[in-house]
Amino acid sequence: MSEDARFFAFLKNRIGLDVASVGEAIIERAVRQRCLSAKASDHDAYWQLLIASADEQQALIEAVIVPETWFFRYPESFGTLGKLAATRLAQLNGVRPLRILSLPCSTGEEPYSIAMALFDAGLQPQQFKVEAVDISPMSLQRARQGVYGKNSFRGSDLGFRERYFSHVDEGYRVEDRVRERVSFQVGNLLDPGLLVAQSAYDFVFCRNLLIYFDVDTQKRGFEALKRMTRDDGVLFIGPAEGSLLGRMGMASIGIAQSFAFRHRADPMPDQLAVVTATPVLPPLPVERSRQAMSLPPGAARARSSVRPFTAPQPLTRATPPADVGDAAALLDDIRRLANEGKSAEAKAACDQYLKRYEPVARVFYWLGLLSEVSGDVAGAQGFYRKALYLEPQHPEALAQLAALLAAQGDVAGARRLQERAARGVNKEGRNR
Ligand SMILES: C[S@@+](CC[C@H](N)C(=O)[O-])C[C@H]1O[C@@H](n2cnc3c(N)ncnc32)[C@H](O)[C@@H]1O
Repeated sequence: MSEDARFFAFLKNRIGLDVASVGEAIIERAVRQRCLSAKASDHDAYWQLLIASADEQQALIEAVIVPETWFFRYPESFGTLGKLAATRLAQLNGVRPLRILSLPCSTGEEPYSIAMALFDAGLQPQQFKVEAVDISPMSLQRARQGVYGKNSFRGSDLGFRERYFSHVDEGYRVEDRVRERVSFQVGNLLDPGLLVAQSAYDFVFCRNLLIYFDVDTQKRGFEALKRMTRDDGVLFIGPAEGSLLGRMGMASIGIAQSFAFRHRADPMPDQLAVVTATPVLPPLPVERSRQAMSLPPGAARARSSVRPFTAPQPLTRATPPADVGDAAALLDDIRRLANEGKSAEAKAACDQYLKRYEPVARVFYWLGLLSEVSGDVAGAQGFYRKALYLEPQHPEALAQLAALLAAQGDVAGARRLQERAARGVNKEGRNR
């Protein structure tokens, strides 16, 4: 077990972060960063500081969270929200405004998108309120400022930017009529006291948080979300999280690409059975996953760069690298070993790299390829996700993960990743 196990346990306990979902190296990097910033002489000294200081605990959480988000992420879900909101409002007949929760809201793109979607659906300001919660005070500070750069605007349909933003030096500022509909507060989904004084919400958005939890923590998270969603309300989740809800007493409302669920009237007997983060699929033959879809140019390159791997060969130990030049040399070694079909050595070199240096997306990407060619599809997906955690636009990781999703029948998920990869390629082309 890693010497950092106590930090992993702390983060799991406090925010639900599962080390297996993001990888040890990412948490170790955050711990190293905090050690340096806090001027702790070693990990023991940092641990003592951490357990004695609420501020330091928050700083470590900030160093490890993934605030990745953008406006109108999964656009269909916002269209669905607009339609459902109009119906719900008619049922309420003016008794109260609609209540909507965005948790986690990160830097505000999601709750502001909710408000814009409701305006687009014809709602008046007094007809709805959006409450937005996140564990990160730094993200909430940015959300309250409401000023966004180009990374927050990723789709092809950016008409909403003309309607709801004004241009400022730093980017685009969301208009007051949208800001005024959203209130922000710090909160932890795993805190049993979170929002207990509030009545349940008509619509709850909880997207791209539960994927970072282990199974038991996901179950706790879903229990909290069920409590927060009215019996006649709707819970919107992320595309990778749908398989979790079926056995938790909720059912899809059946609108494609919306990832929206209701409480089920006839709960299945096993609704509280243990659920898994991703469907457990039998390993797919690599060739099937490769042929399953046409891939963007980056993917084709990536695949042709790794020859079919031959039987494992004895590992030739490299001299321990000591500086950045050595890190680059080790990366070259990994590529060479992989290209020569020496998969065991390539994997050992990747492990060696992650022990010695800051984790980089490229190494996780190679580990993904190595797992894929050995038939370990679930492992490969995990590594590609780790690469994308570090570098959300890593083109080859996007393409490989898209191919795997498509091979498993998740065509929508695959298409989203392909589009994301294509956007990156276009951007690169424009920059050139
Ligand atoms: C990837 S963002 C998702 C934002 C948005 N829902 C979306 O899908 O675009 C994940 C967010 O979860 C927050 N977070 C992590 N653990 C949390 C917890 N236990 N409770 C509340 N928020 C948490 C992080 O601060 C981060 O802003």
